[in-house]
Amino acid sequence: MTLEEARKKIIFALDINELAEIEQWSSLLSTKVGMFKIGKQLFTSTGPEAVRTIQRHGGEIFLDLKYHDIPNTVAQATVAAARMGVKLSNLHALGGYEMMVKTMEALDREFKGGERTKVLAVTILTSSTEETLRGIGIDHSVQEMVVRLAKLAKSAGIDGVVASPQEVKLIREACGDDFLIVTPGVRPTFASADDQKRIMTPAEAVSQGADYLVIGRPIAAATDPAKAVDMIVEEIAMAG
Ligand code: C5P
Repeated sequence: MTLEEARKKIIFALDINELAEIEQWSSLLSTKVGMFKIGKQLFTSTGPEAVRTIQRHGGEIFLDLKYHDIPNTVAQATVAAARMGVKLSNLHALGGYEMMVKTMEALDREFKGGERTKVLAVTILTSSTEETLRGIGIDHSVQEMVVRLAKLAKSAGIDGVVASPQEVKLIREACGDDFLIVTPGVRPTFASADDQKRIMTPAEAVSQGADYLVIGRPIAAATDPAKAVDMIVEEIAMAG
């Protein structure tokens, strides 16, 4: 894989609160990473200005707001996200088939088959255990539920899933090649694990079939973040 292809796979997680910090990160990294991830913390603090700030610096966005609501609300929220020009957005597959189908239909109506935001489904959050599932009345293993929900999302026309590195292979086998897999919880060989438990290196996750990698602290906490990105890019390019 070329360095440029490897670079495009990196999504830098902006786990911050302030617009000024977005300015700094996007001017430093917008030519170095494929996308920036804006989650609930940042979006709740700054609103859509976070998106516009990154776009002003030429960066692309994964809007990670994990919608889960009645079908019409999720469909309209996703269309609103897409109108801002984000590259990726997401929802919870646990919201069900109809919620996902309605969302994709609303996007198709809005973009009339042209280039549009891709929608990812979250299956089971990696913070959930079998005990968590039993507590909400689900008597299946986490792994069974991950595969079941990934297939449900695919059948509803969703573009891909967010998944832990350990799940990538299973999902790739169940859903085929034409399905995006975005993976957090990766750690480059030079970085510490922080609180991530079942980690893989970026190169391993990509060779298992991940399309994009969400990476936060190994870049944000590095003494030279731009250099850390270059090292990750090299790791990925060499493996692929
Ligand atoms: O700093 P780190 O690389 O661990 O950041 C990973 C990012 O991915 C964070 O924004 C975190 O919330 C998110 N994430 C995760 N594990 C999941 C889902 C999302 O680490 N299972």
